[in-house]
Amino acid sequence: RHDGATFMGVSMKHLSLLILLLQNSTLVLMMRYSRVNVDPDQPMYLASTAVFFAELIKLLACVFVLAYKTKSIPRTLYILRKDIIDQPQEILKMLVPSGLYALQNNLLYVALSNLEAATFQVTYQMKILSTAVFSVMMLNRRLTRQKWFALCLLMVGVTLVQLQNVGSKASPVVADSKEEEEFSSEGLEGSMGDELGDASLGDLVDEESGPVQNPFIGLVAVLTSCVSSGFAGCYFEKILKGAEADMWVRNIQLGLSGALFSFLAMFYDRQRIFEGGIFQGYTAMTWIVVANQALGGLLVAIVVKYADNILKGFATSLSIIISGIISVYFFDFEPSLQFQLGTLVVICSTYLYGRPDSAVPGFIRPTKK
Ligand code: C5P
Repeated sequence: RHDGATFMGVSMKHLSLLILLLQNSTLVLMMRYSRVNVDPDQPMYLASTAVFFAELIKLLACVFVLAYKTKSIPRTLYILRKDIIDQPQEILKMLVPSGLYALQNNLLYVALSNLEAATFQVTYQMKILSTAVFSVMMLNRRLTRQKWFALCLLMVGVTLVQLQNVGSKASPVVADSKEEEEFSSEGLEGSMGDELGDASLGDLVDEESGPVQNPFIGLVAVLTSCVSSGFAGCYFEKILKGAEADMWVRNIQLGLSGALFSFLAMFYDRQRIFEGGIFQGYTAMTWIVVANQALGGLLVAIVVKYADNILKGFATSLSIIISGIISVYFFDFEPSLQFQLGTLVVICSTYLYGRPDSAVPGFIRPTKK
């Protein structure tokens, strides 16, 4: 294992987990903020272009890391040619996870344009369930009864959190107003109408009152992302275990096809790009969100290498608490009792899932794989 690796005296495992925790809490909030705080004189930036630039930044960062590691530009170029350009079949293998990640990264914007940061964050924990199910199906893992119990508890928690949105209606966003978080209780009727036709990804626009939020669309987007995250993660892990290759080379292969897919996803917004340009609505905040998303992708790769998937789950679960607290102060978020109870259940279930199985008295740990 790589447990011994350090950076400036700090173990890579702890450092990467800590940075992931901070990155995760801030990304969700910044993305949410960038989607709801609309300047009426500016168009909303296009999510598909933001995803594309995040992919490009990630790709460049991977090449820089490779150059830093080899400490020689000719050697870096040699590796790029030998392991990447001359191995197109390896890039082809990455089409599935990178296509899913491109979809997922776009859906994040859809979800955060329609759900509050805290609701999104808790519901997104469902990816622990999808990862577990795909691990069983694709990687022949076996889960103990404790883990299945924890997963059932997770679903109960997420359902409780979602109760806050049941019966809520698409609501227009009024910048800097509490109304954005307070849904009326008239049901979902009429909220998914024709607006979808010309809207950008994640971006329903009501001509008079700015972007329209639809919690149902947000929920569908986040659940689809969970399935995608679980499947792509297991698929990538299967590829990583199938053959020895440098992690950064693998990430460059993933990034290349990811950049291609996210470029193709921009065709969804082609009309608006032709009319207003690729950088329409970009502010400093947009670039911070883009850079933060790129950093997040790199951190996922690093955490899985130096720590593991379970610890990654812990870090993202803990970030629920941080972003929940910040949401209360900065977004005027008022968590209902169900929300608080649901969040508590999700955190407990994540803890139970990550706890070593031998901690359960009398339980016999099944053999792995
Ligand atoms: O684990 P989770 O599904 O939350 O992470 C997915 C995110 O990490 C996506 O944004 C994806 O593009 C990124 N990622 C990456 N490199 C990897 C694995 C994931 O950039 N090796």
